[in-house]
Amino acid sequence: MTTTLPLEPIETASRDELAALQLERLKWSLNHAYENSPVYRRKFDEAGVHPSELKTLADLARFPFTTKKDLRDSYPFGMFAVPQEQISRIHASSGTTGKPTVVGYTAKDIDTWANLVARSVRASGAQRGDKVHISYGYGLFTGGLGAHYGAERAGLTVIPFGGGQTEKQVQLIQDFRPDIIMVTPSYMLAIADEMERQGIDPASTSLRIGIFGAEPWTNDMRTAIEKRMGIKAVDIYGLSEVMGPGVASECAETQDGPTIWEDHFYPEIIDPETGEVLPDGEFGELVFTSLTKEALPIVRYRTRDLTRLLPGTARTMRRMEKITGRSDDMLIIRGVNVFPTQIEELLLKQPALAPHYQIVLTKEGPMDVMTLNCEPCPETAPDYGALDAAAKALAYDIKALIGVTAKINVLDVNGIERSVGKARRVVDKRPK
Ligand code: DLL
Repeated sequence: MTTTLPLEPIETASRDELAALQLERLKWSLNHAYENSPVYRRKFDEAGVHPSELKTLADLARFPFTTKKDLRDSYPFGMFAVPQEQISRIHASSGTTGKPTVVGYTAKDIDTWANLVARSVRASGAQRGDKVHISYGYGLFTGGLGAHYGAERAGLTVIPFGGGQTEKQVQLIQDFRPDIIMVTPSYMLAIADEMERQGIDPASTSLRIGIFGAEPWTNDMRTAIEKRMGIKAVDIYGLSEVMGPGVASECAETQDGPTIWEDHFYPEIIDPETGEVLPDGEFGELVFTSLTKEALPIVRYRTRDLTRLLPGTARTMRRMEKITGRSDDMLIIRGVNVFPTQIEELLLKQPALAPHYQIVLTKEGPMDVMTLNCEPCPETAPDYGALDAAAKALAYDIKALIGVTAKINVLDVNGIERSVGKARRVVDKRPK
């Protein structure tokens, strides 16, 4: 008996079949948004476009973008396109300032979401009988419940732990022997640290697969986690406004960037400055249009995530390259653009330093100062010579390869605050 879980027919359909389905669904989605959401009706009318003008997928470029501001301006439920009694769930993403962004789902939306996370879990190499430990936060955040419904839908045994209580996470991983963990990559590292603190080799656990997302993480981080945990690590992508986790997810056989579940979400890459649609393969801002969502149809949503579209490999659907960062996360240090992921890549080249880090920005007079807080690996902590050499080598690489000067500040072991969800990579202390 085979233990792998079967693919859905659409995952291997031809590009033509997929495009035909996308066009049919896109027409439905634009109509639904226009007819049932006053916000979209106003936006389309102002842009002078009507859903009936969409004849090809490329015509989508004539429709206006949707941004986080549109959702904020209609807080909390103003963009919903179904009556409230048809909403079966609300989620919200907190963001850093102001009101949360609120999203809603009909029962059918929840069903679609569960199917897509189930598809993502199967793509990770899950097998019949696997147990899934979920450490994404439950609650308004889409991570926990999104992962939960999907893993259950895939027919697996779900352990709904949620975030936090790191000691107990380790205990239950030891006792319940899960095969798969779903967690942010940064919190995976904190769990691994706790295992080591308890004298457990992280590579010795029952875990076989990690499904990591909700924050940017580099391929170097993937290699580090795979080695340390003795698992296969795949990337799951998503955002509340578009659905939650499972908009795209990586296939275990290729691990070459998340496959976009294009039968439900139509991706575009645009030039973030001009809004012009760019051809596949070019870098820019990722934009999504939902094809089947009922409660909150989303038309050309500007994600602010930077990546490019790549041809399908393990599936016919296109992939996105692993996200480098968000346009909002881009730091401009003395005129040089820097993404935290670029720093992460260079930090991971220093075996004496642990993979935890935080970038602190301050001002000295008119000048921006970037300090990289990092910490030693527990084994190298007592070796000041090795740490000093690592810090110098890292500062050199950052200057040579990124072009900015960074002060490297090696704290004590556990000196960097551990988050239980998304890591806070940048602390900007510059006066506004
Ligand atoms: O983070 C949904 C999610 C939960 C995805 C669990 C994966 C796993 P939000 O809180 O709305 O939703 O944040 C969405 O997080 O626009 C990206 O900037 C970032 N993000 C999500 N997944 C990835 C990823 C969830 N795999 C925002 N790689 C997105 C890089 C990611 N960034």
